[in-house]
Parts: sequence; structure tokens; C-alpha cells
Amino acid sequence: MSLSKQVKAEQDAKNFFESEWHDEKHRVHCECVVTACLGMIQNTTLEPVVFILAGWLHDMGKMIDKENHHQESIKFTKRFIEQYPEYKDYLGLIEDCILHHRSTGVPSNEYSRIFQLADKVALSNHKWIEYKGQNQKRK
Ligand SMILES: [Fe+2]
Repeated sequence: MSLSKQVKAEQDAKNFFESEWHDEKHRVHCECVVTACLGMIQNTTLEPVVFILAGWLHDMGKMIDKENHHQESIKFTKRFIEQYPEYKDYLGLIEDCILHHRSTGVPSNEYSRIFQLADKVALSNHKWIEYKGQNQKRK
């Protein structure tokens, strides 16, 4: 897996996210989820593109229905794949990650297990803590 493929996935996912959702909080959160995933899969054969795309797409459903956002996010994922069909082979793994990422989710493979944990590890990321701190001060 070449680095340029990873960089392109990152750009495509971010562009999609930003064209749909102007939410600074989730922009920071999603970046931290991707960082946590990529840290966990270093020196493995696991595919970074799955985590990059799932990371940026997994919470987008919150725009529609917070309670059911994991399922709503799948609709955004399908729309993303329509716009970027070159990622269609990863759709199944991305859907797995998104559907099982919540605390009540039951991950079925190493991708979704890592992803579920990364969603929580992201809350300890310095960047997230800094963002939260600044945001609370403004209130
Ligand atoms: Fe999340």
C-alpha cells in the first residue's frame, strides 16, 4: 500500500466531510480517531484506507439522527462511494467499522474492534483535549 494512496484517501474523505458538514468539533474528533487507528496498525498488513474512510464518515449520521447515527452514517458512506467508486472494495469493512463503533456495538473482526476502541482512545488525544479546553473557555 503506497503512501500516496493513503494521502489521497485522506484528502478525498476530508473533502467529502467538509462539503457535507461544517462542524469543527467532529473535524477534530474524526482526525483523532484516524490517528488512533493508524497508530494501532503500524507495521501490520491491515489496510489504512479502511480506517481513514471510516474515521471521517462514522459520525456524519449525527446530522440526521444522533440516536441512530451509526445507521445514518452508512447512507453517507454509500454516497461517498458513489462519488469515489475507487474505494468500493473497502465498503464492507468500512460499514462493519461504522455499524459497530458505539459502546453497545459488537465488533466482528479486527478492523471493527480497533475502530471501536479508537473512537474512545481519540478522547485522550492531546489535540482533542486542547480543543475541548479552548471551547469551554469561550462559553
Ligand atoms: Fe466518533
